[in-house]
Amino acid sequence: MVEQGRTQVSILVPTYNESQNIIGLLKSVAESLPKNIAAETIVIDDNSPDGTGRLVEDYIRSVGKKAGQTIGIIHRRTKRGLGSAIIHGIQQARGETIVVMDSDFSHPPSAIPRMLESLWQSSCDIVVASRYTRGGAIHGWTLKRRIISKVATGIAKRGLGVKQDDPMSGFFAFRRNLLQGFKLDGIGYKMLLEMLVKARGASVKEIPYTFTDRRLGDSKLGAGTMVDYLRSVWRLYRFGRARSRQEPRASVRFASKAARFYTVGATGLLVNYLFSAMLAGWPADMWYLHANLAGIAASVSTNFALNKHWTFEDRDFGAARTVSQYGKFVLFSSAGALVQLGMVYHLVEGHALEYPVALVLAVLTASFGNFILNKKLTFKE
Ligand code: GDD
Repeated sequence: MVEQGRTQVSILVPTYNESQNIIGLLKSVAESLPKNIAAETIVIDDNSPDGTGRLVEDYIRSVGKKAGQTIGIIHRRTKRGLGSAIIHGIQQARGETIVVMDSDFSHPPSAIPRMLESLWQSSCDIVVASRYTRGGAIHGWTLKRRIISKVATGIAKRGLGVKQDDPMSGFFAFRRNLLQGFKLDGIGYKMLLEMLVKARGASVKEIPYTFTDRRLGDSKLGAGTMVDYLRSVWRLYRFGRARSRQEPRASVRFASKAARFYTVGATGLLVNYLFSAMLAGWPADMWYLHANLAGIAASVSTNFALNKHWTFEDRDFGAARTVSQYGKFVLFSSAGALVQLGMVYHLVEGHALEYPVALVLAVLTASFGNFILNKKLTFKE
């Protein structure tokens, strides 16, 4: 990635299909930054089909390192969302100050020096480039987009109690050490909102700027983004409530997750029984082993869905990882079934235990192993 050395500022630029914008943006960022600042610009690309990643690689090779500025790129294999891209960038960034911006010129690079000056001269933790503070403006948005933005901002302010005029801004700078003490989920677009809610006591300053809608390429904001937004507001609301009631201890959280996991397991038995009985009986009249197989598949799937959205609801990274999570879940469930079979056999044959007792012990052991594996690997934080 980027070279070693002292870096004051990391500028994070997530991209998805931005081949028409990104090189111009990188040049403009380099021109805008004062030469006495050691900065790195990190592009986080989600394997853009239009070749944005390759373009940036070629550009990095052609410019090398200039006047204390470095450009790096993080290649991710799949499209995992703007929030998740920013978190990835933060993990790789070396600067004490981090700036987040779009790659499509809607956020003018010329505003960065003002943001840095504001952050460094005041003792605040976050500087928000704001469209809605006095002096700020938006150019090029349709009425529909303006209304959506206003409604979303209103929901954040009323629902979550944030005080800033533009908590949904995608253009902001912050001190890296602000992130100590809480974890970012990165669902949807609203990384700043999440920081404003979670970094309690952070001092925030808003400075006006003019947002100019992109001229090239398309917005990636879609219906799914709205759903993600509402989910993230709901989570943040619950986060705020849980914090005000004092967070439960780790042991309590573990027990509550285990209780949910076992409850889900019990519903799985029911689904399995009902589904296979239904398929084996009239009118489907399926061969009982096929019906049983279908029952197992159905219960594994409902168990997975319930565990993802209920047991481990605090760890869900949205739809992006569902397929790989499902694969792991099926793998661990199959391994659990084998462990259970082996243990029952061992206890009955080797230790002369009654079958019901052996079965209970084997189920408890296998399901506990399953719980731990899913907690640590499938739904890891
Ligand atoms: N790596 C990666 N992965 N980048 C992404 C993804 C993704 O899944 N989705 C979007 N991006 C990048 C885009 O390439 C662009 O650089 C930036 O994130 C913003 O995406 P746009 O699709 O252009 O967002 P927008 O203009 O509709 O939304 C703007 O307004 C919001 C507030 O109303 C952005 O400025 C947001 O940051 C802002 O929150």
